[in-house]
Amino acid sequence: MALKILIAASEAVPFAKEGGLADVVGALPRVLAKMGHDVRVVMPRYYKVNREKLALTLLPGVLTVPMGIIGNQYCGVYEGRMPDSDVPIYFLDHEEYYGRSGLYEVDNQGYLDNDNRFAFLSKGTLELCKMINFRPDVIHAHDWHTAAIPVLMNTSYRHDPFVGEAASLLTVHNMQHQGSFYEGLMDVLDIGWEHFTFLGLEKENQTNLLKGGMYHATLLNTVSEGYAREMQTKEFGWGLEWVVRERGADLYGILNGVDDHEWNPETDPLIAARYSAVDLSGKALCKQDLQRNCGLPELPDVPLIGMVSRLVKQKGIDVLAEAIYRILDLDLQFVLLGAGEPWTHFYFGDIKAAYPRKFGVHIGYNNTLAHKIEAGSDFFLMPSAFEPCGLNQMYSMRYGTLPIVRATGGLDDSVENFDEANLAGTGFKFNELTASALFDTVGWAVYTWYNRRDAMERLIKNAMEKRFTWEEAAAKYEKLYYLAVEKRMGEKRSRGRSTEPR
Ligand code: ADP
Ligand code: GLC
Repeated sequence: MALKILIAASEAVPFAKEGGLADVVGALPRVLAKMGHDVRVVMPRYYKVNREKLALTLLPGVLTVPMGIIGNQYCGVYEGRMPDSDVPIYFLDHEEYYGRSGLYEVDNQGYLDNDNRFAFLSKGTLELCKMINFRPDVIHAHDWHTAAIPVLMNTSYRHDPFVGEAASLLTVHNMQHQGSFYEGLMDVLDIGWEHFTFLGLEKENQTNLLKGGMYHATLLNTVSEGYAREMQTKEFGWGLEWVVRERGADLYGILNGVDDHEWNPETDPLIAARYSAVDLSGKALCKQDLQRNCGLPELPDVPLIGMVSRLVKQKGIDVLAEAIYRILDLDLQFVLLGAGEPWTHFYFGDIKAAYPRKFGVHIGYNNTLAHKIEAGSDFFLMPSAFEPCGLNQMYSMRYGTLPIVRATGGLDDSVENFDEANLAGTGFKFNELTASALFDTVGWAVYTWYNRRDAMERLIKNAMEKRFTWEEAAAKYEKLYYLAVEKRMGEKRSRGRSTEPR
């Protein structure tokens, strides 16, 4: 049976992107549609979503969104298509909430009304169904930004003719960011203060949207099996581990895929030359092009380590900061692209001044450079403290760039450690989150590069042969959707029999 699926998220490639969430929402709907489902996507119309360039059409009428104590809010809805597909995407066009340069923040300062901005997205998604006459079987929410959707579906929208009977799936991409706000957000959600409890949305006297979503979603998943286990522990649960454990029977891990349209060295228009596992000569040109772009000497005989990352603690940037001087004393080059915590911008800028011929840095967001780094590097570094999935290690393998990763979450699940005896593996892994473990593993990789050409060739081949397809991931999501629909119907039947007041 084909399903009607509504996917709601705060970002999607190619419209607006801050991290991997956008890559996921950009790829999954197209594949689900190819499988025969009726898929629609909803997100905010940020300033950077250009109505003219994207030839968006304004839907007739106005969307009215009841925002509790704030009163009704109104917005226009623009419709477009997900690239290379017929999948409709709807953009909620609310000037006051989304007409800003950033998605969530400006100058590293989260917008003060993020609670209302994303409560609006969640409620707007449900109201939109009426406007476009769409009765979804499943609504698929992502992270805290849309985590209020499952809550609303179980409370004030319980009897809504369009969404009241739909099942919900909440995908948790990151346990650190929970959407925790001033308790008064309850009056905007307008679902009744009886839900502001320890076993509801309350956490430390704040309204916690992720917690609410985790309680109310029909099913839950995260983006690797490893992280599905880790998020149930104190170390990785950010105070919500016990909620995850409570919902453990309904929790699944599905590894993300690689979008072949965006990340494929055989077709990538953003890199200097195309190449494949059969003929790697283009990769050497990409390395030269990357070195030129980063102001480094164009040396083919020196290993180059690349890194593209949000420069935050999650990504192990503090550990890298500690290890970087020792790393740069080795015979290698290092290129870093990213933005994040302000201290990192100065710190790595100073390192460029100290090692101008070995270290290249670009502070900011640059998609073209990200592709050039994937293609032009020999190794790709991800020393993450935690990593629910991680996409760059999978892109790296596709581009024949060996990942050096900390064995956590999706990094551990997707990278196979180099096995010297059997010449097996797809990268290099370490366990301890310390500068010395990081340094030792970089040393091991670089030693292999200089002294074990045979092993390098084998590892590159193994890595390039690895496929993390969205087809495989989407088939798993499809199963979860069916399961969620069945569970929701079961809940409805048992409610029907119950004599308890609801
Ligand atoms: P996260 O979502 O936690 O940041 P992921 O590995 O899932 O980590 O995804 C990060 C995505 O964002 C990748 O597609 C990566 O290439 C991209 N990215 C991160 N920082 C930058 C940057 N400064 N410039 C361009 N792309 C970036
Ligand atoms: C989050 C996680 C990252 C994951 C991405 C997409 O941003 O930090 O590990 O790959 O979501 O699922």
